Amino acid sequence: MTDAFPGGAADPRARPRPHVTWSFAATLDGRSAASDGTSRWISSPAALRDTHRLRSECDAIIVATETASIDNPALTARDELDRPLPRQPLRVVMGLRDLDPGLQVFDDAAETVQIRTREPLVALGELAARGCRSVLLEGGPTLAAAFLRAGVVDEVIAYIAPKLLGAGRPAVADFGVSTISEALAGQVSDITIIGGHDEAPNVRITLRPFPAI
Ligand SMILES: NC(=O)c1ccc[n+]([C@@H]2O[C@H](COP(=O)([O-])OP(=O)(O)OC[C@H]3O[C@@H](n4cnc5c(N)ncnc54)[C@H](OP(=O)(O)O)[C@@H]3O)[C@@H](O)[C@H]2O)c1
Repeated sequence: MTDAFPGGAADPRARPRPHVTWSFAATLDGRSAASDGTSRWISSPAALRDTHRLRSECDAIIVATETASIDNPALTARDELDRPLPRQPLRVVMGLRDLDPGLQVFDDAAETVQIRTREPLVALGELAARGCRSVLLEGGPTLAAAFLRAGVVDEVIAYIAPKLLGAGRPAVADFGVSTISEALAGQVSDITIIGGHDEAPNVRITLRPFPAI
């Protein structure tokens, strides 16, 4: 029998896959990065702190090779004084290309693995085999679209900043919806305004469950 899961990855059907939360920051017009690729500081400092709390609560964080290279994030969970929180998730970079070993994600602040696949189910199967039960997808638009298309996003947490870009990357790329009646709908479980004293407040919207297409 041939191995249906390239690279020797665990069969994702053999055990429950991890719970997947897709978290992203976007402007009011749904942009997750400007046209020059920059996306840092779309969110307010308070929204960023909230993201670090989310990171510390999950077993693994996934980004794509593109985001790891362009943004060079540390992907650690840190407090407001930039100190590491006690619990650090596994850092996962998903994608086929070779990465610069000097990237921050390869520092010794937390464990990191690169999963050389573009298939969400294969990556989730590997993470399940490592004992991960919850995953935070900090995807750029391409990776987020792949997870939505695969029907493996259980929860969405969107940080919406009161800014307009007018151009740039959308929060999510095409994942197969061509008409409004096919739009993915989620049940809103929470809307919270974050920050607001000395900074522009951001709105955090949590959707769940997010039905598979
Ligand atoms: N605002 C936010 O919350 C946020 C969050 C993250 C990123 N961003 C921004 O998003 C931009 C990057 O987005 P992006 O869409 O170009 O990249 P991306 O979604 O980060 O990932 C694209 C890369 O992921 C790999 N990959 C993994 N699975 C894939 C799949 N199923 N299909 C296609 N590619 C897959 C590919 O790399 P290989 O060629 O190596 O396979 C591909 O080049 C950056 O500007 C970043 O700043 C914003």
